[in-house]
Amino acid sequence: MSLTTDAVKSPHAAFDFDPFSHAVMRDPLPFYKVLREKHPAYHMPQYNAWAFSRFEDVLRIFHNDHHFHTSEGTLGSKEGLSKFEKGAGPKWQKDPTPLFGFNEPGVYAKLRNAMMAELRPKSVAAIADDIRARTNALLDALIPRKRFNLNLDFAGIVAAGSVCRMCGIPIEDAAEVLAAANFATKQDPVTGGFPPDWQQNREVLLEICRKAIRKQIDGTSGHAVPAIDKLRALDVEGRKLTVNDIATLMSSIVLGGSETLPKVFAHGLMELNNAPEQKAEVLSDLENNAAPAFEEMLRYCGPAQWFMRTVDTPIEIAGQKLERGERVIALIQSANRDDREFDNPDKFIWNRKIERHMGFGNGLHFCIGSHLARLEGKILLQEFLRRVPEYTIEEAIRTPSSFQWGYTSVTVSIP
Ligand code: HEM
Repeated sequence: MSLTTDAVKSPHAAFDFDPFSHAVMRDPLPFYKVLREKHPAYHMPQYNAWAFSRFEDVLRIFHNDHHFHTSEGTLGSKEGLSKFEKGAGPKWQKDPTPLFGFNEPGVYAKLRNAMMAELRPKSVAAIADDIRARTNALLDALIPRKRFNLNLDFAGIVAAGSVCRMCGIPIEDAAEVLAAANFATKQDPVTGGFPPDWQQNREVLLEICRKAIRKQIDGTSGHAVPAIDKLRALDVEGRKLTVNDIATLMSSIVLGGSETLPKVFAHGLMELNNAPEQKAEVLSDLENNAAPAFEEMLRYCGPAQWFMRTVDTPIEIAGQKLERGERVIALIQSANRDDREFDNPDKFIWNRKIERHMGFGNGLHFCIGSHLARLEGKILLQEFLRRVPEYTIEEAIRTPSSFQWGYTSVTVSIP
């Protein structure tokens, strides 16, 4: 089947929303509009799931975490979602430890606390100078080239470099870390599942983490890695975590910390370039304007489209009673475009008043890296625009995927 087979289907004809359909993967926004207007609780019996698209309903899901569980994960592949047992309760994986967000609540809270070690506001603020220095060193090398990739040569390397520092991975490995993280979010555009060599790539990422953990254990890492030390000290369900367990947990940080920020940043620079008057305003006071501009980028440019939860105890959302075992698909980017919450939501406005948005999710699983991401976003914008106030977008690639719709590769040229 080719990508174009059902791409011509109009979201207004016989309405059919499936996050894995080619039409939705190519451009989900018109579907979200119909969902918000006509089907606030949209049933997908093939996945035993309901999709929620309005801001308040998505928020209600995240604020009622105790009604849901994540033992099936927070993201789903088409294959995984197609398998279900009606009315089933959570089946927590305990040994080996699963990916960070998939642990049962008591264990999850302990792990999150340990992994927050260097992601709290004070620790993050302490690395601002390092982020700025790495950003400028990269720009020193890139500007003379006159043409470079915003994701792969610039913002992705800065972001991956920060998580390398935090996880005890040599900073020279940032490009390899970024490549592995980017691969992990790829989906096969035909099947909507993972590409065949996905597992092999996952091994690469895990081995990078294992190496860092072993160095920390045998004292050869050269600097303290508080998150690893804290995870090693934990007692989880009567046992200590293995190197593999810790690598699986750290891989969430390495992944989340490397791949998302460059997509938001690159898309945001495209929006500013499309609106020269907005770019001029941001440029007029970079010290103060970069942070609000990045906040609008978080609302408007986030690549992750949805996160999943499974119902543990019945709850009603958008007038729909949800039963144990049913899945909810919280469409966070639809929530970010809901005109019940935002005026003129489909327009990028760098200084719009934003009281809340779904860019980092909400509730229990609220992005653990939000402070780091905000700091990196602000510094990248300040330094890039200060040194490259004029740029042309040469190429922008938005790879189709069921759960991500982000600019994976944006090339700029400069005069
Ligand atoms: C612009 C950058 C970023 C965006 C837009 C973003 C977005 C998100 C969102 C929406 C969630 C919620 C997932 C859910 O509800 O299931 C999340 C969770 C998470 N993020 Fe981020 N993120 C970013 C940067 C980072 C960074 C810098 C890190 C690590 C250093 C990170 C690590 C994580 C992890 C580990 C989780 C899972 C949290 C949990 O399940 O408790 N993210 N992120």
